[in-house]
Amino acid sequence: MYSRGVFQRSEITKGENLLQELTEINALIVGATQGIGLGFVRSLLLDTRVKKLFCSYRQEATAGELFKLRADHPDRVVCLNLDVTEEADIVSAAKTIKDGVGILHLALYCVGVLHEGELAPEKSLRDLNAPDLLYSFHVNSVGAALVAKHLATLFDRRTPGLFAAISAKVGSIGDNRLGGWYGYRASKAALNMFMKTAAIEYKRRCPCTIVVSLHPGTTDTRLSKPFQDNVPEEQLFSVEHTVELLTDVMSRLKPEDSGEFYSWNGNRLPW
Ligand SMILES: NC(=O)c1ccc[n+]([C@@H]2O[C@H](COP(=O)([O-])OP(=O)(O)OC[C@H]3O[C@@H](n4cnc5c(N)ncnc54)[C@H](OP(=O)(O)O)[C@@H]3O)[C@@H](O)[C@H]2O)c1
Repeated sequence: MYSRGVFQRSEITKGENLLQELTEINALIVGATQGIGLGFVRSLLLDTRVKKLFCSYRQEATAGELFKLRADHPDRVVCLNLDVTEEADIVSAAKTIKDGVGILHLALYCVGVLHEGELAPEKSLRDLNAPDLLYSFHVNSVGAALVAKHLATLFDRRTPGLFAAISAKVGSIGDNRLGGWYGYRASKAALNMFMKTAAIEYKRRCPCTIVVSLHPGTTDTRLSKPFQDNVPEEQLFSVEHTVELLTDVMSRLKPEDSGEFYSWNGNRLPW
């Protein structure tokens, strides 16, 4: 983790990344049971600087792979039961982290919903309904804001830190050319605004902690499965590839990059 990579088109400013100075890292992955979140768990376990890895799951039914990793790394992996629509779960997770390690250096919000049960991305205005829209906002945006709220006191004033939320390019208002996917798009745009606003407050509270939104690129996970047919093979990333790319982007971030929205290739995306 945090190894340097080669970025031809990166817009991230030059300079030293403060996280690279750390010799010990306590990390939290929110949404660690599937896809990109689980990929980050696997990747972080390869970094010997990561001493404690807090991993959230919302239900045991889909947490089998994560529990196996905990069994393999009982001293490092701590699993936290956390549904992001329940603020009490977030409070309890933050308390476990505070009691366990006191300081957090890295938090990745990897939770997201595009389809679930009857919920499906809307093709047209006639498909909109309030409960589904509100659910998308609750999971994709409000959950991340509440996590930022309760983690704020866990990032130290003088120690480097990073809080990244996995967003999506379709949440870019400036880049919206195709329309559709109202709830997902709007909730990711709201997520980006929450992260931008939290970045400003974090800068006052813990100026060494960077807050960003990241677009992972289309990645072969449960979330993208129903929509992969029209994606050219070279544009469909494996989880491992996405994690590697985003790790490289994160490895280049510096405090002045806080509050921005970056793509997997290091380019800044339009709001
Ligand atoms: N895959 C892509 O192509 C793509 C593209 C752009 C952006 N993204 C974003 O990348 C992030 C990760 O997505 P993914 O592709 O890895 O999706 P995924 O495989 O479906 O994983 C989503 C994760 O979110 C968790 N989750 C969902 N609702 C939750 C809730 N209410 N409380 C707590 N956890 C909850 C899931 O837990 P359960 O196991 O309990 O369901 C799972 O761990 C999302 O923010 C997504 O929007 C993905």
